[in-house]
Amino acid sequence: MSELKVLDKVFVPFISQETLQEKIKEIAQTINKEYAGKKPLFVAILNGSFMFAADLFKEITVDAEICFIKLASYKGTQSTGHVITSIGLDSNINDRHVIVVEDIIDTGKTLHSFLPQLEVQQPASLKIATLLHKPEATVYPLQIDYCCISIPNKFVVGYGLDYDGFGRNNKEIYQLKG
Ligand code: IMP
Ligand code: MG
Repeated sequence: MSELKVLDKVFVPFISQETLQEKIKEIAQTINKEYAGKKPLFVAILNGSFMFAADLFKEITVDAEICFIKLASYKGTQSTGHVITSIGLDSNINDRHVIVVEDIIDTGKTLHSFLPQLEVQQPASLKIATLLHKPEATVYPLQIDYCCISIPNKFVVGYGLDYDGFGRNNKEIYQLKG
């Protein structure tokens, strides 16, 4: 892997395809054990989580459903702090075992503001699965149930994650250089 230029910024290789797939398999195994017979509903948050959600879902061996919703709080490399409400949650989540699938938890604001919108529908359970977590950046309290990899507080792209819309189409994760 070599350096990656996305728009005006340069990124360096950070997490390999192999490591990502290995960690995804690990959390999938845990989920498979914990959700046997529960018919979980995965609610994947677009756009960033589409690759992670696809690879995770392929490793799920229990009966399960998946749906995709859209919400966003990011512009450029800085959180705007605005959370846009969800589009596309047409599944009835009442009494369902719901697993929210995120690409990355940074400040935690997105999920902290969004989860109550799911909780009002009274799911049987509500858990969070994220590919990446930046613990140093997280200021909103959140219980992260399934986390693949914790990373330092530095901007990353690839494997679905973007910088102003670009850089998603990479099999590995890159970190902002410098
Ligand atoms: P939070 O609300 O601050 O936790 O931010 C969550 C959202 O911001 C994620 O779902 C991502 O879409 C985006 N985000 C946070 N950090 C990064 C990053 O390093 N690269 C790309 N997107 C990011
Ligand atoms: Mg996201």
